[in-house]
Amino acid sequence: MAMDNLKQFLVFLFAAAAVGFVSIIFVIRWVLHYKEGLAWDGGLAEFNWHPVLIVTGFIFLQGIAIIVYRLPWTWQCSKLMMKFIHAGLNLLAFIFAVISMVAVFDFHNAAKIPNMYSLHSWLGLIVVILYCLQLVLGVGIYLIPITPVSWRAMVMPLHVYSGLLLFSSTIAVALMGITEKLIFGLNNPKYKDLPPEAVFVNVLGVLLVVFGALILWIATRQSWKRPSDEILHTLHTNGGGEDSTRVGPALSQLTEGTDAEPSGDVRRRSNKLDDQIN
Ligand code: HEM
Ligand code: HEM
Repeated sequence: MAMDNLKQFLVFLFAAAAVGFVSIIFVIRWVLHYKEGLAWDGGLAEFNWHPVLIVTGFIFLQGIAIIVYRLPWTWQCSKLMMKFIHAGLNLLAFIFAVISMVAVFDFHNAAKIPNMYSLHSWLGLIVVILYCLQLVLGVGIYLIPITPVSWRAMVMPLHVYSGLLLFSSTIAVALMGITEKLIFGLNNPKYKDLPPEAVFVNVLGVLLVVFGALILWIATRQSWKRPSDEILHTLHTNGGGEDSTRVGPALSQLTEGTDAEPSGDVRRRSNKLDDQIN
């Protein structure tokens, strides 16, 4: 990655991490300072695990899982190891989402509030089920070594599309949940009177949208994509010696729209192998 481009990447990465961390601080402060705190007692403090685990796990961890292949300092790690990290982070995000849903179902049952009546709950459950499907298919297709490379490459555009769609939908569902909670939870003063809690939590909603926007930007830049292992290997050996610390400079030749133009040969191979996911 050429210097300019790398700087740009780091700015986006830092911004995404910062906005993500601040969102986590906001959701924790919301439940601890403005609401009933956290507990597993069938009451409102149990419900509060729902937004906390969603923001920290299902949104933040999923966002990081999506861009983990794009961190240039991981390009010298094997693809298999990065797959384990990508899959592991997504699995963790899923576990957080499931526990967060157990919290809200448990709270509803204890308080005799009906289940699954809202659009938020319908879309939320659909997103979690499809996320689980994406996880199982991801493991089946990209981790279990029997799937032919041609299948892997064929399914990859769908995997990326459905992954980005799920991530965006997760944020949309969270915004609906936040709005519902503010409308239900604020009485005297009401939401329409815009008390400090409403302003604070509206800002949390804006932060989640900004986090999503940054992750989507990073995940859709063609020139920030992880080069295929074969390209890495070719440049690595052509670049002189097996010293893996030399991989970094060699990679600068792979990016598009930079001052370090790759030779036609490398570019042609790069394009071809980019589609060959394994
Ligand atoms: C309820 C999923 C984010 C607030 C529910 C229910 C599900 C769900 C399935 C139904 C529980 C039941 O019927 O017993 C999700 C998913 C989210 C998410 C998948 C993440 C994408 C949030 C966030 C908040 C929130 C961030 C903010 C506080 C609520 C509220 C309810 C609820 C107030 C109870 C009312 C209702 O059933 O609509 N959620 N939720 N949710 N959620 Fe979420
Ligand atoms: C790439 C999402 C699970 C393997 C991607 C990308 C997204 C994504 C958005 C594009 C990233 C990029 O272009 O840099 C998801 C989601 C998952 C999930 C939301 C879980 C629900 C898995 C699992 C595996 C896997 C379990 C199994 C190892 C891959 C591979 C790539 C990829 C091999 C290509 C990386 C590259 O371009 O070098 N995934 N994924 N994914 N994912 Fe997943």
